[in-house]
Amino acid sequence: MIDNFKNDVDEGLSKSKKTLASKYFYDTKGDAIFVEIMKMPEYYLFNAEMDIFKNQTQDLIDNLGLEKKTFFELVELGAGDGTKTKQLLKKLNDDGYHFEYVPIDISQNALHQLETSLRKELPHVNVTKRQGEYFKVLSSFKDTKALKVVLFLGSNIGNLLDENAQRFITSLSESLNTNDKVLLGVDLIKSADIVLPAYNDKQGITKRFNLNVLERINRELRANFNLDEFDHVPEYTEEEGIAKSFLVSKIDQKVTIGALQKVFDFKKGEKIHTEISRKYNDTILNTILKDSHLKIISKLTDSKQYFADYILEKV
Ligand code: AVJ
Repeated sequence: MIDNFKNDVDEGLSKSKKTLASKYFYDTKGDAIFVEIMKMPEYYLFNAEMDIFKNQTQDLIDNLGLEKKTFFELVELGAGDGTKTKQLLKKLNDDGYHFEYVPIDISQNALHQLETSLRKELPHVNVTKRQGEYFKVLSSFKDTKALKVVLFLGSNIGNLLDENAQRFITSLSESLNTNDKVLLGVDLIKSADIVLPAYNDKQGITKRFNLNVLERINRELRANFNLDEFDHVPEYTEEEGIAKSFLVSKIDQKVTIGALQKVFDFKKGEKIHTEISRKYNDTILNTILKDSHLKIISKLTDSKQYFADYILEKV
Protein backbone atom coordinates (compact mmCIF):
# COMPACT_ATOMS: atom_id res chain seq x y z
CA MET A 1 0.00 0.00 0.00
CA ILE A 2 2.62 2.51 1.13
CA ASP A 3 4.85 1.53 -1.80
CA ASN A 4 2.12 2.23 -4.32
CA PHE A 5 1.55 5.61 -2.77
CA LYS A 6 5.25 6.40 -2.92
CA ASN A 7 5.61 5.29 -6.54
CA ASP A 8 2.41 7.02 -7.64
CA VAL A 9 3.46 10.30 -6.00
CA ASP A 10 6.88 10.07 -7.62
CA GLU A 11 5.40 9.34 -11.04
CA GLY A 12 2.66 11.99 -10.76
CA LEU A 13 4.94 14.80 -9.63
CA SER A 14 7.61 13.94 -12.22
CA LYS A 15 5.29 14.52 -15.17
CA SER A 16 5.36 17.82 -17.09
CA LYS A 17 1.68 18.20 -16.13
CA LYS A 18 1.79 17.16 -12.49
CA THR A 19 -0.93 14.87 -11.09
CA LEU A 20 -1.87 13.16 -7.82
CA ALA A 21 -4.57 10.48 -7.86
CA SER A 22 -7.82 11.34 -6.05
CA LYS A 23 -7.95 7.91 -4.38
CA TYR A 24 -5.23 9.21 -2.03
CA PHE A 25 -7.60 11.78 -0.54
CA TYR A 26 -9.18 9.07 1.55
CA ASP A 27 -7.03 8.50 4.61
CA THR A 28 -8.68 8.76 8.05
CA LYS A 29 -8.61 12.55 7.93
CA GLY A 30 -9.79 12.67 4.30
CA ASP A 31 -12.70 10.33 5.11
CA ALA A 32 -13.76 12.72 7.88
CA ILE A 33 -13.52 15.77 5.60
CA PHE A 34 -15.60 13.95 2.98
CA VAL A 35 -18.33 13.46 5.59
CA GLU A 36 -18.27 17.25 6.10
CA ILE A 37 -18.50 17.75 2.31
CA MET A 38 -21.65 15.65 2.12
CA LYS A 39 -23.29 17.95 4.67
CA MET A 40 -22.40 21.20 2.88
CA PRO A 41 -25.28 23.16 1.36
CA GLU A 42 -23.33 23.50 -1.92
CA TYR A 43 -22.78 19.73 -2.26
CA TYR A 44 -26.13 18.98 -3.90
CA LEU A 45 -25.11 15.46 -5.00
CA PHE A 46 -25.82 13.83 -1.65
CA ASN A 47 -29.20 15.50 -1.10
CA ALA A 48 -30.29 14.83 -4.66
CA GLU A 49 -29.62 11.10 -4.49
CA MET A 50 -31.10 10.97 -0.99
CA ASP A 51 -34.26 12.53 -2.45
CA ILE A 52 -34.53 9.60 -4.88
CA PHE A 53 -33.93 6.98 -2.17
CA LYS A 54 -36.37 8.60 0.23
CA ASN A 55 -39.20 9.60 -2.06
CA GLN A 56 -39.02 7.02 -4.87
CA THR A 57 -38.15 3.90 -2.90
CA GLN A 58 -41.03 1.89 -4.33
CA ASP A 59 -40.16 3.04 -7.87
CA LEU A 60 -36.60 1.86 -7.32
CA ILE A 61 -37.86 -1.55 -6.22
CA ASP A 62 -40.34 -1.79 -9.11
CA ASN A 63 -37.79 -0.71 -11.71
CA LEU A 64 -35.28 -3.22 -10.37
CA GLY A 65 -37.96 -5.85 -11.02
CA LEU A 66 -37.70 -7.25 -7.50
CA GLU A 67 -40.30 -9.74 -6.36
CA LYS A 68 -41.10 -10.80 -2.80
CA LYS A 69 -40.81 -14.51 -3.57
CA THR A 70 -37.37 -14.34 -5.25
CA PHE A 71 -34.28 -14.23 -3.05
CA PHE A 72 -31.59 -11.74 -4.12
CA GLU A 73 -28.23 -10.47 -2.97
CA LEU A 74 -28.14 -6.70 -2.62
CA VAL A 75 -24.45 -5.96 -3.11
CA GLU A 76 -23.05 -2.49 -2.51
CA LEU A 77 -19.68 -1.32 -3.82
CA GLY A 78 -18.05 1.13 -1.42
CA ALA A 79 -20.92 1.37 1.01
CA GLY A 80 -19.70 4.27 3.16
CA ASP A 81 -22.06 4.95 6.05
CA GLY A 82 -25.05 3.62 4.11
CA THR A 83 -27.38 6.57 4.80
CA LYS A 84 -29.08 6.31 1.39
CA THR A 85 -29.07 2.53 1.22
CA LYS A 86 -30.78 2.27 4.60
CA GLN A 87 -33.89 3.86 3.07
CA LEU A 88 -34.07 1.02 0.58
CA LEU A 89 -33.16 -1.67 3.13
CA LYS A 90 -35.89 -0.51 5.47
CA LYS A 91 -38.57 -0.64 2.77
CA LEU A 92 -37.44 -4.06 1.53
CA ASN A 93 -37.42 -5.38 5.08
CA ASP A 94 -40.80 -3.86 6.05
CA ASP A 95 -42.45 -5.24 2.93
CA GLY A 96 -41.15 -8.77 3.40
CA TYR A 97 -38.61 -9.11 0.60
CA HIS A 98 -36.24 -12.05 0.83
CA PHE A 99 -32.68 -10.77 0.52
CA GLU A 100 -29.23 -10.41 1.95
CA TYR A 101 -27.28 -7.15 2.06
CA VAL A 102 -23.62 -7.54 1.05
CA PRO A 103 -21.58 -4.35 1.49
CA ILE A 104 -18.12 -4.55 -0.08
CA ASP A 105 -15.42 -2.14 0.95
CA ILE A 106 -11.65 -2.00 1.06
CA SER A 107 -11.88 -0.56 4.59
CA GLN A 108 -12.54 -3.10 7.34
CA ASN A 109 -13.23 -0.18 9.66
CA ALA A 110 -15.94 1.31 7.41
CA LEU A 111 -17.60 -2.12 7.13
CA HIS A 112 -17.52 -2.67 10.85
CA GLN A 113 -19.14 0.70 11.57
CA LEU A 114 -21.82 0.07 8.95
CA GLU A 115 -22.61 -3.36 10.38
CA THR A 116 -22.87 -1.97 13.90
CA SER A 117 -25.28 0.78 12.88
CA LEU A 118 -27.38 -1.66 10.82
CA ARG A 119 -27.64 -4.11 13.70
CA LYS A 120 -29.07 -1.29 15.78
CA GLU A 121 -31.32 0.39 13.21
CA LEU A 122 -32.40 -2.56 11.06
CA PRO A 123 -31.79 -5.67 13.20
CA HIS A 124 -33.80 -7.97 10.89
CA VAL A 125 -31.77 -7.28 7.75
CA ASN A 126 -29.26 -10.05 6.96
CA VAL A 127 -25.86 -8.47 6.48
CA THR A 128 -22.74 -10.23 5.18
CA LYS A 129 -19.86 -7.80 4.96
CA ARG A 130 -17.06 -8.53 2.51
CA GLN A 131 -13.73 -6.81 2.82
CA GLY A 132 -11.59 -6.44 -0.29
CA GLU A 133 -11.36 -5.05 -3.79
CA TYR A 134 -14.72 -4.89 -5.57
CA PHE A 135 -13.95 -7.25 -8.41
CA LYS A 136 -12.06 -9.80 -6.38
CA VAL A 137 -15.02 -10.08 -4.05
CA LEU A 138 -17.60 -10.04 -6.86
CA SER A 139 -15.85 -12.74 -8.87
CA SER A 140 -15.59 -14.85 -5.72
CA PHE A 141 -19.34 -15.31 -5.71
CA LYS A 142 -20.08 -15.21 -9.41
CA ASP A 143 -21.14 -18.84 -9.33
CA THR A 144 -23.88 -18.38 -6.75
CA LYS A 145 -27.19 -18.81 -8.52
CA ALA A 146 -28.92 -16.02 -6.62
CA LEU A 147 -30.03 -12.88 -8.42
CA LYS A 148 -27.66 -10.00 -7.75
CA VAL A 149 -28.49 -6.32 -7.50
CA VAL A 150 -25.33 -4.20 -7.34
CA LEU A 151 -25.46 -0.67 -5.95
CA PHE A 152 -22.77 1.79 -7.01
CA LEU A 153 -24.00 5.13 -5.74
CA GLY A 154 -22.92 8.71 -5.13
CA SER A 155 -21.40 9.32 -8.58
CA ASN A 156 -18.31 7.51 -7.38
CA ILE A 157 -17.80 6.36 -10.97
CA GLY A 158 -17.25 10.05 -11.82
CA ASN A 159 -13.70 9.94 -10.47
CA LEU A 160 -12.77 7.69 -13.40
CA LEU A 161 -11.75 8.89 -16.85
CA ASP A 162 -14.25 7.59 -19.42
CA GLU A 163 -11.87 4.87 -20.67
CA ASN A 164 -11.37 3.64 -17.10
CA ALA A 165 -15.08 3.84 -16.36
CA GLN A 166 -15.58 1.67 -19.46
CA ARG A 167 -13.12 -0.89 -18.14
CA PHE A 168 -14.74 -0.77 -14.72
CA ILE A 169 -18.20 -1.38 -16.21
CA THR A 170 -16.89 -4.22 -18.35
CA SER A 171 -15.38 -5.97 -15.30
CA LEU A 172 -18.58 -5.41 -13.39
CA SER A 173 -20.62 -6.83 -16.26
CA GLU A 174 -18.37 -9.90 -16.45
CA SER A 175 -18.94 -10.68 -12.79
CA LEU A 176 -22.73 -10.73 -13.22
CA ASN A 177 -25.19 -13.25 -14.62
CA THR A 178 -27.98 -12.56 -17.13
CA ASN A 179 -30.83 -10.67 -15.51
CA ASP A 180 -28.73 -9.29 -12.64
CA LYS A 181 -29.16 -5.53 -12.10
CA VAL A 182 -26.94 -2.55 -11.36
CA LEU A 183 -28.18 0.62 -9.69
CA LEU A 184 -25.71 3.27 -10.83
CA GLY A 185 -25.92 6.74 -9.27
CA VAL A 186 -24.44 9.55 -11.38
CA ASP A 187 -24.37 13.31 -11.28
CA LEU A 188 -25.93 14.88 -14.39
CA ILE A 189 -24.41 17.54 -16.65
CA LYS A 190 -25.77 20.93 -15.68
CA SER A 191 -24.71 24.56 -15.58
CA ALA A 192 -21.48 25.71 -13.95
CA ASP A 193 -23.29 27.98 -11.47
CA ILE A 194 -24.60 24.84 -9.74
CA VAL A 195 -21.65 22.47 -10.21
CA LEU A 196 -18.71 24.73 -9.39
CA PRO A 197 -19.81 25.78 -5.88
CA ALA A 198 -20.11 22.07 -4.97
CA TYR A 199 -16.33 21.86 -5.48
CA ASN A 200 -15.52 25.35 -4.20
CA ASP A 201 -17.56 25.88 -1.06
CA LYS A 202 -17.53 29.11 0.93
CA GLN A 203 -16.26 27.48 4.12
CA GLY A 204 -13.21 26.05 2.40
CA ILE A 205 -13.99 22.43 3.28
CA THR A 206 -13.22 21.18 -0.24
CA LYS A 207 -9.98 23.15 -0.18
CA ARG A 208 -8.97 21.31 3.01
CA PHE A 209 -9.96 18.04 1.35
CA ASN A 210 -7.75 18.77 -1.65
CA LEU A 211 -4.81 20.02 0.44
CA ASN A 212 -5.05 16.96 2.66
CA VAL A 213 -3.25 14.92 -0.01
CA LEU A 214 -0.18 17.16 0.44
CA GLU A 215 -0.44 16.77 4.20
CA ARG A 216 -0.55 13.02 3.70
CA ILE A 217 2.61 13.16 1.57
CA ASN A 218 4.28 15.24 4.28
CA ARG A 219 3.39 12.72 6.94
CA GLU A 220 3.76 9.41 5.14
CA LEU A 221 6.60 10.26 2.78
CA ARG A 222 8.49 12.77 4.94
CA ALA A 223 7.93 15.78 2.69
CA ASN A 224 7.88 19.50 3.44
CA PHE A 225 4.94 20.88 1.44
CA ASN A 226 3.88 24.23 2.89
CA LEU A 227 0.09 24.07 2.56
CA ASP A 228 -0.19 27.85 2.77
CA GLU A 229 1.68 28.16 -0.50
CA PHE A 230 -0.92 26.23 -2.55
CA ASP A 231 -4.37 27.30 -3.71
CA HIS A 232 -7.37 25.06 -4.39
CA VAL A 233 -8.68 25.74 -7.92
CA PRO A 234 -11.67 23.89 -9.42
CA GLU A 235 -12.68 24.14 -13.09
CA TYR A 236 -15.88 23.13 -14.88
CA THR A 237 -17.65 23.95 -18.10
CA GLU A 238 -21.05 22.59 -19.04
CA GLU A 239 -19.77 21.83 -22.57
CA GLU A 240 -17.16 19.41 -21.24
CA GLY A 241 -19.20 18.16 -18.25
CA ILE A 242 -16.17 17.34 -16.10
CA ALA A 243 -15.36 19.11 -12.82
CA LYS A 244 -11.59 19.16 -12.25
CA SER A 245 -9.69 20.08 -9.12
CA PHE A 246 -6.18 21.46 -9.02
CA LEU A 247 -3.67 22.55 -6.41
CA VAL A 248 -1.85 25.60 -7.73
CA SER A 249 1.52 26.79 -6.46
CA LYS A 250 1.32 30.41 -5.30
CA ILE A 251 5.06 30.97 -5.67
CA ASP A 252 8.21 29.48 -7.22
CA GLN A 253 9.18 26.83 -4.69
CA LYS A 254 11.02 23.57 -4.08
CA VAL A 255 9.60 20.68 -2.07
CA THR A 256 11.67 17.82 -0.69
CA ILE A 257 10.15 14.37 -0.38
CA GLY A 258 12.37 12.47 2.03
CA ALA A 259 11.11 8.99 1.20
CA LEU A 260 11.99 9.59 -2.47
CA GLN A 261 15.22 11.44 -1.76
CA LYS A 262 14.10 13.94 -4.37
CA VAL A 263 13.38 17.64 -4.67
CA PHE A 264 10.45 18.78 -6.83
CA ASP A 265 10.23 22.20 -8.46
CA PHE A 266 6.99 24.17 -8.58
CA LYS A 267 6.70 27.33 -10.66
CA LYS A 268 4.38 30.11 -9.59
CA GLY A 269 0.95 29.24 -11.08
CA GLU A 270 1.93 25.63 -11.81
CA LYS A 271 -0.91 23.17 -11.30
CA ILE A 272 -1.17 19.69 -9.78
CA HIS A 273 -4.27 17.95 -11.14
CA THR A 274 -5.85 16.03 -8.26
CA GLU A 275 -9.35 14.97 -9.28
CA ILE A 276 -11.95 14.67 -11.99
CA SER A 277 -15.66 14.43 -11.23
CA ARG A 278 -17.40 13.46 -14.44
CA LYS A 279 -21.01 14.46 -14.99
CA TYR A 280 -23.20 12.33 -17.26
CA ASN A 281 -26.12 12.20 -19.65
CA ASP A 282 -27.70 9.25 -21.51
CA THR A 283 -25.30 9.56 -24.46
CA ILE A 284 -22.15 9.51 -22.34
CA LEU A 285 -23.39 6.63 -20.22
CA ASN A 286 -24.34 4.63 -23.31
CA THR A 287 -20.82 5.16 -24.68
CA ILE A 288 -19.38 3.81 -21.44
CA LEU A 289 -21.72 0.80 -21.54
CA LYS A 290 -21.26 0.03 -25.23
CA ASP A 291 -18.75 -2.85 -24.96
CA SER A 292 -20.36 -4.38 -21.88
CA HIS A 293 -23.46 -6.54 -21.57
CA LEU A 294 -25.17 -3.94 -19.40
CA LYS A 295 -28.14 -2.03 -20.82
CA ILE A 296 -30.04 0.92 -19.39
CA ILE A 297 -33.55 -0.19 -18.52
CA SER A 298 -34.69 2.84 -16.54
CA LYS A 299 -33.64 6.10 -14.96
CA LEU A 300 -34.91 7.86 -11.84
CA THR A 301 -34.05 11.49 -11.16
CA ASP A 302 -34.49 13.77 -8.16
CA SER A 303 -37.06 16.56 -8.16
CA LYS A 304 -34.49 19.11 -9.37
CA GLN A 305 -33.14 16.80 -12.11
CA TYR A 306 -29.61 17.19 -10.78
CA PHE A 307 -28.83 13.52 -10.27
CA ALA A 308 -29.85 10.17 -11.77
CA ASP A 309 -30.03 6.61 -10.55
CA TYR A 310 -29.83 4.47 -13.67
CA ILE A 311 -30.99 0.89 -13.57
CA LEU A 312 -28.88 -1.38 -15.76
CA GLU A 313 -29.58 -4.98 -16.65
CA LYS A 314 -27.11 -7.64 -17.67
CA VAL A 315 -28.27 -9.06 -21.00
C1 AVJ B 1 -17.07 10.82 -3.93
C2 AVJ B 1 -16.22 11.01 -6.14
C3 AVJ B 1 -18.53 11.39 -5.73
O1 AVJ B 1 -16.48 13.75 -7.11
O2 AVJ B 1 -18.21 14.62 -6.15
C4 AVJ B 1 -16.37 15.72 -3.44
C5 AVJ B 1 -15.65 13.39 -4.31
N1 AVJ B 1 -14.45 15.59 -4.33
N2 AVJ B 1 -15.80 16.93 -3.40
C6 AVJ B 1 -17.23 13.88 -6.15
C7 AVJ B 1 -15.50 14.87 -4.04
C8 AVJ B 1 -14.63 16.86 -3.94
C9 AVJ B 1 -16.97 13.03 -4.90
N3 AVJ B 1 -17.17 11.57 -5.17
